[in-house]
Amino acid sequence: MALKVCQIAAETSPFAKTGGLGDVVAGLSRALAREGQDVRIFLPFYKRVAQLDFPFVAVDFLRDLELALGGRRFTWSVFTTRLPPSGPDVYFVHCPALYHHEGIYSGDWDEYLRFTLLARAAIESCQRMGWGPDVFHVHDWHAALVPIYLRTLYAWDRLFARSRTVLTLHNLGYQGIYGREVLDELGLAAHAQLFAAEDLAQGRVSFLKTGLVHADLLTTVSRTYAREIQTPEQGFGLDGLLRSRADRLVGIVNGVDYGEWDPARDPHIPHHYSAADLSGKRRMKESLLGKVGLAHRRDAPVVGLVSRLTSQKGLDLLLDTLPEFLFHRDLRFVALGSGEERYESFLSWLQVSFPGKAWYYRGYNEELAHWIEAGADLFLMPSRYEPCGLNQMYSLRYGTPPVVRRTGGLADTVEPWNPVARGGTGFSFDHFTPEGLRWGLDTALRAFEDAEGWQRLMQNGMAKDFSWERQVRPYLDLYRRLTGG
Ligand code: ADP
Ligand code: GLC
Repeated sequence: MALKVCQIAAETSPFAKTGGLGDVVAGLSRALAREGQDVRIFLPFYKRVAQLDFPFVAVDFLRDLELALGGRRFTWSVFTTRLPPSGPDVYFVHCPALYHHEGIYSGDWDEYLRFTLLARAAIESCQRMGWGPDVFHVHDWHAALVPIYLRTLYAWDRLFARSRTVLTLHNLGYQGIYGREVLDELGLAAHAQLFAAEDLAQGRVSFLKTGLVHADLLTTVSRTYAREIQTPEQGFGLDGLLRSRADRLVGIVNGVDYGEWDPARDPHIPHHYSAADLSGKRRMKESLLGKVGLAHRRDAPVVGLVSRLTSQKGLDLLLDTLPEFLFHRDLRFVALGSGEERYESFLSWLQVSFPGKAWYYRGYNEELAHWIEAGADLFLMPSRYEPCGLNQMYSLRYGTPPVVRRTGGLADTVEPWNPVARGGTGFSFDHFTPEGLRWGLDTALRAFEDAEGWQRLMQNGMAKDFSWERQVRPYLDLYRRLTGG
């Protein structure tokens, strides 16, 4: 029997994506649907999504509905379309009063209302569809209230009597913490005892923590991150709670959608290639350097970076190391990303200070992300912490060995290159210090000088299979275990 799986998240690629979350919700949902499961995805109809060119259709019986959040009434409707190319149905909660912001995340005071409406509208849509999911699979703090809602406001509904909940932790750095006065708008003031007492005592509530307590099962996106978040150093204050639920916490490495990320057929890049014929990769390097106006020299390695520019991504280490590498060595540096001002300024400064060697694009650019994966020789990910990370897996497939810090999913997916045994797929360093990164980069640049060894290293990475076809299995096993199916 097909499992009914309801995915609820703030992002789903290609509609709404700021990072890996969007790719994962889309990739996992497609893979589940390919396995014959009945999957439906809910996400907000952000203003920018509504403006995209997809065949959105209004759902007749989900039109102009009302929901009171505290003293305010919100009118919402639902639009739908299929996840391209032929994926499951995506349902978009339309509520202009809340989703009129330019971006996906507003950072405004009413952020909690936006995602509270998403959670409740998703549940109420299921009710009106007469569709009782076997599993509500919710992602990050944005959807983390779904389990408590099913236990309280919607506990009366027999439709959900057998529904189970899975909360996936993509990033503990974002918890959705608000003043306890929002309980009224959440509609949960009468259930305050179900929230963490220590938070209430301090006058606050945490969306993510509430999900951690009430979800039937917790997953996170790599095995190492599942261990790390149970330590005070990486637990963001939730390690005690996570340890107490350790028997319900599972780490599953994310999958890659090779339909989107494969250099042999990537529609975003002009030259295609495979492990058997790498000539297209050499042409990509030339094209990339030509496109961004950096001097091409075959022996000069190109180091690529595609990242949200936040402290999570370890950019502080670049401040101390990259200028000296660019000064002393003949390498190129191509970066794409946006985020915190201090990192944007630094990358802009690099570009001005090292003309012909460093280039930076500030912003979000899907096509350029593919160009950099394909055209660079090395991919940089010196993360402070990394729940999973997708870019390093993309770069493995693109023959662009990653230089990573050994943390979270980076530790689980990148095997250090051993020049003697000719095994391994990339370079990893342990210590989150400039010396650590300096050592990692230096080791990689020395390895690059051995053309034959380098080709082997590229091919080792390209042969790795992190496909969703594989990674969907552990999710299916979990769902089945949970639902007794
Ligand atoms: P995170 O989710 O923490 O940002 P991941 O490595 O899991 O890290 O996923 C990042 C995803 O976002 C990748 O698909 C990457 O290509 C994409 N991405 C990040 N920044 C940009 C950008 N500026 N332009 C285009 N894509 C980006
Ligand atoms: C988060 C994490 C990243 C992970 C992604 C998808 O944004 O920072 O490591 O790959 O979610 O799970």
